[in-house]
Amino acid sequence: MKKVGIALLGLGVVGSGTYRILESKKEKIMRDYGVDLEVRHVLEKDTTKAVALGIDLSKVSCDINNVINDDKIEVVAEFFGGIEPARTFLLAALRAGKSIVTSNKELFSKHWPELEAAAEETGAGIYFEASCGGGVPIIRALHESCQGNDILEIKGIVNGTTNYILSNMSEHGSDYEDTLKEAQRLGYAEANPSADVDGFDSTYKLSILSSLAFNKRIPYTSIYREGISKVTKEDIKFGKEFGFTVKLLAISKNVDGKIEAHVYPAFIPDDHPLAKVSGAFNGIYVVGDNVGELMFYGKGAGDLPTGSAIVSDIVYAATRYEHRRYPFILEEAAQNFNNDFASEYYIRLTVKDETGVLSTITGIFGKAGISIDSMVQKAGVNGKATIAFITQKTTELTFKKALAELEKASCIHQVDSMIRVEK
Ligand code: HSE
Repeated sequence: MKKVGIALLGLGVVGSGTYRILESKKEKIMRDYGVDLEVRHVLEKDTTKAVALGIDLSKVSCDINNVINDDKIEVVAEFFGGIEPARTFLLAALRAGKSIVTSNKELFSKHWPELEAAAEETGAGIYFEASCGGGVPIIRALHESCQGNDILEIKGIVNGTTNYILSNMSEHGSDYEDTLKEAQRLGYAEANPSADVDGFDSTYKLSILSSLAFNKRIPYTSIYREGISKVTKEDIKFGKEFGFTVKLLAISKNVDGKIEAHVYPAFIPDDHPLAKVSGAFNGIYVVGDNVGELMFYGKGAGDLPTGSAIVSDIVYAATRYEHRRYPFILEEAAQNFNNDFASEYYIRLTVKDETGVLSTITGIFGKAGISIDSMVQKAGVNGKATIAFITQKTTELTFKKALAELEKASCIHQVDSMIRVEK
């Protein structure tokens, strides 16, 4: 039977989960895939983690040369996260002809061209199923199961932390700050939550997914990004009255050959499949011109779900004679992005509780050519009233111009919030 040596770089949550799956499924993988996967080396400075997993300490070190110089190691799986030393170690592995497997979305979205070029030099493989959606098999589905389609749209909930926070705010009517603190206490959010709550993590993942979907390099820097920190319990409550749920969405579309890619909190109708994706789960909705709607759902993080995707990639890499290539990633960035994208909008205003206010607001919208779809008004308190509108589809620039006019109107105390609506 073919024997393939594996190296694991790091024994954190996902590295340990991967090792446990490799051990528990060793016989099954031998029987069903005809390959004997042997963990030959582990890079980890905390040896107690190796001891806890029953790994022989003679296989554990902090020296990448023990991996690079072992000819029997054919696949290197990386679990460090972040850019360095992951980038340097994976480039060295590729240049030594070893295939790499990673869940590192930040590294992958920022350095995919460099990794691809190194892989092409030696014919080694690069595998990253676990980088987007954790255990959800979205990468291979986009690249290997949708060839008969032009992908028109991806709409994803690809960050479990923010989905947990927004789901809890919605369920309990709680504030963003309180919910974030609770999520940190329970280990759902990091002590420094910025990568998740400011939308960076979703942006990295959307860059990878969109590049695969559209066969073009979609740099993460070309993706418009807003995080969830401005979402309030009041907006979630108004959203419910309109029949909407709020989600942090990673959206990319191919509209007449122009790519639109953005990450922002958005209202979606309660009956959209993504509205049912709650808590720390991920969901990715894909539309192809022939297949129509597809929905991928599952755990986007965690030791065994993410380990499941990593092991799938290891088996795939270990059993291929020729690895997948992504030549489009080496081409210059696509220039045909559309930043003046169209959307419907929710807007909440605090206004003077007096006659003529509504006609002022509808006049401003009317002058901008924006049609109003629906409206909810709350009875005035202390001479102030709250009004929320949903507009019909308009473009970002047109809407922002109207917003500036609303902010100048003397009968409007303030524009409290604006959330895009994705129907
Ligand atoms: N921070 C990520 C999330 C982990 O919350 O989804 C998985 O990539």
